[in-house]
Amino acid sequence: MYYSPNKDMVTIKDLDFSLYLSAREIQNKIRIMATKIASEYEGKNPLLLVVLNGAFIFGADLIRNMDIACTVQFIRLKSYDQLKSTEQLQISGMDKVDVKDRHVIIVEDIIDSGFTMHTFVPLLEEMNPSSIAIASLLMKDDEIKYNVNVKYTGFHIPEKFVVGYGLDYDGQGRNLPHIYQLVEFIE
Ligand code: IMP
Ligand code: MG
Repeated sequence: MYYSPNKDMVTIKDLDFSLYLSAREIQNKIRIMATKIASEYEGKNPLLLVVLNGAFIFGADLIRNMDIACTVQFIRLKSYDQLKSTEQLQISGMDKVDVKDRHVIIVEDIIDSGFTMHTFVPLLEEMNPSSIAIASLLMKDDEIKYNVNVKYTGFHIPEKFVVGYGLDYDGQGRNLPHIYQLVEFIE
């Protein structure tokens, strides 16, 4: 039912979502982002540090559109519980990340309050990379509460919760090809 790929509306558990960004719009934007990143990092062999789980699909598409030498590593960060930021960051896989003297591009799905990146970037700095930049597919500008410097942003979106293209609601919806926005009913 909800996995029908071309639906305008999907229901996940108790919530309804409507189509917000199509797969085609997302791919067009990623090509633009990848071209810009590739031109600025040519010859630097950047390390793309993909933030699991949400950014796994974005990361996969971004690197396939980057026509320069680069490497990829993964880190798992979790601060969200269902629809809300918990303001507690769980980090795993830090021991497997080797960023020393590398130009690191953190690949994120979405910046919401900014808590995750505001907390994570200083920890990464302690590992002595040559530089750190953030590339986020989505950014909820009105929700920002923590100072974060995002160098590459795909779409600036309103504060409504979104799912699809890697982003989940309570673990589900990551496999949707488009991005959907929560429908909020007035009671
Ligand atoms: P922040 O720490 O408040 O900036 O939230 C960042 C993380 O929360 C992201 O990496 C996502 O995993 C998750 N998140 C924030 N907003 C949404 C959303 O609308 N849908 C799905 N996940 C979200
Ligand atoms: Mg995330």
